[in-house]
Formats: sequence, C-alpha cells, structure tokens
Amino acid sequence: MPEGMNDQQQTAMGRAIFNKRCASCHGTDGNGTGTSSGPALDQAQFKYGRTPEAIKESIVKGRPNGMPAFGSALQEIEIDTLVGFVQSLHKQ
Ligand code: HEC
Repeated sequence: MPEGMNDQQQTAMGRAIFNKRCASCHGTDGNGTGTSSGPALDQAQFKYGRTPEAIKESIVKGRPNGMPAFGSALQEIEIDTLVGFVQSLHKQ
C-alpha cells in the first residue's frame, strides 16, 4: 500500500482510477460487464495469478489476449493502488 494512506483512502483512490481507466473493459468495480472483452476481476482465481506481483505485471506489461500495457500511462503509485484495489474485489 502506498505510504501514508489508510485502507479506505486506498480503496477510494483505486476505485476512481479503475473506473476511469479499466472499467470500459472490466466493468464497474471489475464485475466483468464492461463493453469490451475484459474478464471479471472479482474472481478467486486469476488466469495469470492473483499475487500482487502477478497483478502488477498484468497491469504494467499487459497480457496477450487484449490487456493493454499501462506501464507508461500510469504512475507507480497509481499502479500500486490499483493492485491493492483489484485484490480487494474478491469477497470471500
Ligand atoms: C481494452 C480493454 C482493457 C482495458 C482498458 C483494461 N483491461 Fe485488463 N484485461 C483485458 C483483457 C482482454 C484481459 C485478458 C487478457 C488475457 O487473457 O491474456 C485483461 C486481463 C487483466 C488482468 C489479468 C486477469 C487474470 O485473469 O489474470 C488484470 C489484473 C487486469 N486486466 C487489470 C486491468 C486494470 C487494473 C486495468 C486498468 C488500468 C485494465 N485491466 C484495463 C482488457 C482490458
């Protein structure tokens, strides 16, 4: 988690970035109902893994079947915030 932010602030910031940059494909809050082809991100299992490292790699480098690379479009702090937000989407 980025320094100096509590959980609620991180979730709010993550949601704002996600719904602006990612929801068109992945749906609002990653529910999989976006207009494009992105998979739901509230699943227990991810194709490329749900560890922070794996999620970060998906965002930074993109993935072959239509996930764009955001490594140069987003700042490190935004990416780290998104990683935490994506991890929080799966409710037990
Ligand atoms: C243009 C549509 C599009 C946008 C915008 C997009 N994604 Fe994706 N994303 C995809 C697709 C399609 C896949 C599946 C890629 C594959 O299977 O190889 C994917 C895969 C992923 C995965 C891996 C899921 C898994 O099962 O391992 C993560 C994590 C992810 N996206 C997060 C994000 C985040 C965070 C953003 C915003 C910064 C974002 N995506 C923006 C289309 C998109």
